[in-house]
Amino acid sequence: MQDDVRPMFAANWKMHLGPEETASFVQRFADLHEVRQGARVVFFPPYLSVGAFLASSRSRPDLELGVQDVHQETAGAHTGAVSAPMAKQAGARWALAGHSERRREFGDDDVAVAAKVARIIDEGLRPVLCVGETLEEREAGELEVVLSRQIEAVLSSLAADRLPSLTYAYEPVWAIGTGRTASPDDAAQAHAVVRQEIRRCGGRTDAVILYGGSVKPGNIDALLAAPGVDGVLVGGASLDPESFAAICAGGV
Ligand code: 13P
Repeated sequence: MQDDVRPMFAANWKMHLGPEETASFVQRFADLHEVRQGARVVFFPPYLSVGAFLASSRSRPDLELGVQDVHQETAGAHTGAVSAPMAKQAGARWALAGHSERRREFGDDDVAVAAKVARIIDEGLRPVLCVGETLEEREAGELEVVLSRQIEAVLSSLAADRLPSLTYAYEPVWAIGTGRTASPDDAAQAHAVVRQEIRRCGGRTDAVILYGGSVKPGNIDALLAAPGVDGVLVGGASLDPESFAAICAGGV
């Protein structure tokens, strides 16, 4: 059985916050954010900050840990890469897969993303599969085609018993780091497409689907009120404890 929790607030720190900054972030955030029953908070720090995150969050088991990516193999000659078993051993419970920055900068295509998701599940971690369209794709009317391709590539390659364990993040590429947020209506419409594709591919239609892209304290309530938006995956606004704590207090 899944222990899906809504709303889910996830912080993707990308290439920000080293070990020292992580320790001070967690200290401050723990002061600001009280344990919130019925909500889930997950951090995706850089690998090198994982140890500092765990050490400084020891008294706050409600703050969960994930990694931003894993290699699809479990071990081997892959300089610079980190495997899912290592991430698990280090204390992670979650892993992102298919973030648009990985797709764009590191060449993670649909096949690689599918292999990563399978590996993440096999190692007992929980994947967050990131999908989303570019501005050109949206303007060309390809929203459904792109989301469908990205979701089908992963779900069609997974055995049926693994399908239930996915969490999804809809992150329109044009809204990431641009200050341009999808409107609640845009988000609701895209989440409905994601859910429809999950259903078509045999996945669990009540899966948690996060929205990501310029989420801020000022728009969290409206986004969480949008139908089908079960939480958020936050980049820039998660780097400041005050701002992320305000986001984690949203939607009530
Ligand atoms: P921003 O919140 O900085 O737009 O980033 C979103 C994102 O990519 C989260 O994974």
